[in-house]
Amino acid sequence: MAALILFGGGGDLAMRMLLPSLYFLDHDGLLPEGLKIIGAARSEETPAEYIDKVHEAVKARAESDGGWSEDSWARMKARLDYRAVDATDPASLEPLKALCGSGEITSFLAVSPSLYGRIVTAMKTAGLAERNCRIVLEKPVGRDLESFREIDDAVSGAFDERQVFRIDHYLGKETVQNLIALRFGNTIFEPLWNNLTVDHVQITVGETVGVGDRWPYYDEYGALRDMLQNHMLQLLCLVAMEPPSDLDPDSVRNEKVKVLRSLRPITPEEAERVTVRGQYVEGTSEGQPVPSYEQERGQASDTETFVAIRADIDNWRWAGVPFFMRTGKRLSEKRTEIVIQFKPVPHSIFDHGDRGVIEANRLVIELQPDEDISLSVMNKKPGLDQRMQLQPIRMSLSWGMDGKEAKPPRRRIAYERLLLDAMAGDSTLFVRRDEAEQAWKWVDEVSEAWSNADLKPLAYDPGTWGPEASDLLLSRTGRAWNTGDD
Ligand code: BG6
Repeated sequence: MAALILFGGGGDLAMRMLLPSLYFLDHDGLLPEGLKIIGAARSEETPAEYIDKVHEAVKARAESDGGWSEDSWARMKARLDYRAVDATDPASLEPLKALCGSGEITSFLAVSPSLYGRIVTAMKTAGLAERNCRIVLEKPVGRDLESFREIDDAVSGAFDERQVFRIDHYLGKETVQNLIALRFGNTIFEPLWNNLTVDHVQITVGETVGVGDRWPYYDEYGALRDMLQNHMLQLLCLVAMEPPSDLDPDSVRNEKVKVLRSLRPITPEEAERVTVRGQYVEGTSEGQPVPSYEQERGQASDTETFVAIRADIDNWRWAGVPFFMRTGKRLSEKRTEIVIQFKPVPHSIFDHGDRGVIEANRLVIELQPDEDISLSVMNKKPGLDQRMQLQPIRMSLSWGMDGKEAKPPRRRIAYERLLLDAMAGDSTLFVRRDEAEQAWKWVDEVSEAWSNADLKPLAYDPGTWGPEASDLLLSRTGRAWNTGDD
């Protein structure tokens, strides 16, 4: 019998993401037979009280996703238990260990990362780091390379690397895995996937929400550390990596690390030309008046709520192909996409007079709000005009053109895939220590360049795509962010 312990089991992440994910997995018959799910937190409550809270959270989420069933809940309820613990105290963890039995134990730390070090040390003493145990660490692990190493040293003092699962929930998103299928399950893209054919790559993660009451965490991190260090660099790696020889964890992660090692460091001299920091001011978002970041924070702050960066990958495949990344809060849309912008045709036989301008091909991998992969190509406008007219069309590559391919009944929570993989011991979609280190190293250099160049965030209005300087970052090179309008 296997067990899953959720440390921080009553917290926001557990209630909003982890427990609903487990419910859906159970609903679909995907949880290991006999799996026990044990919430563990400081709060002195009974298992029955905890289960009531879980019921409320899971039901609300499942009803809105159209997947609520009393039978599935009854199954999940039978697996649930709760223990009030001080996770930094081995004596408090021992009864938890006894409750888990002798099967495989996966512990998910959904608590403040400042406690990771002390918790893993206590887990080791309490026998929760033995060979049959695994640990899942939620981000952020550290706020720079040094603090990452400090925490991770404590983790590796208790667990082997193969037992450690560092989560980046973006890797659990269906379209991210589809990107791997697209690149390595087809022959037609790979020969084009280089600086001969690709002009540039864009990665956008836009959010309409503000920071709100998360500011005590966010003010320490900012958009660079909260989003770019992890989610966005992971997406960049999957686009840029060489074909791995296998889909096993080390083959894939070896290739990702090589990309991170090839990222050109950003120096203080060029920081202003290749990076943009922004912070939202008071204004209107989705028709509602919203406060500025500083009003939410309650005082002046130099933390960026928007970042745009031009990254260059110094290797044979990508030399001369800029990767533009941007992310921010209170932007005009919740949209996450990767755009592979191909080069224009070398010589046009069409774009004279009214025959239509030839747009370069573009592959858009959309993660949110919809999950889709589409390719825009030029096409002849139907008709008997003597002079050939062209128009761009978008072909969706995700679910097939004839509708026969199975479309999933609902969008899965990214944690569903990751929880299953962690419990099965498959770390392909998790971040290895050297990957996280390389990502921190590059991000630390960006942050140092900002402080050496004294680069402060530029103000931007809510409901926009960030400071104007972000558009300039591309227009200066004759390019533009994808607007999604064509
Ligand atoms: C988290 C960040 O990792 O990702 C949040 O800490 C952000 O600030 C969130 O809002 C975005 O995730 P998603 O899946 O909604 O794009």
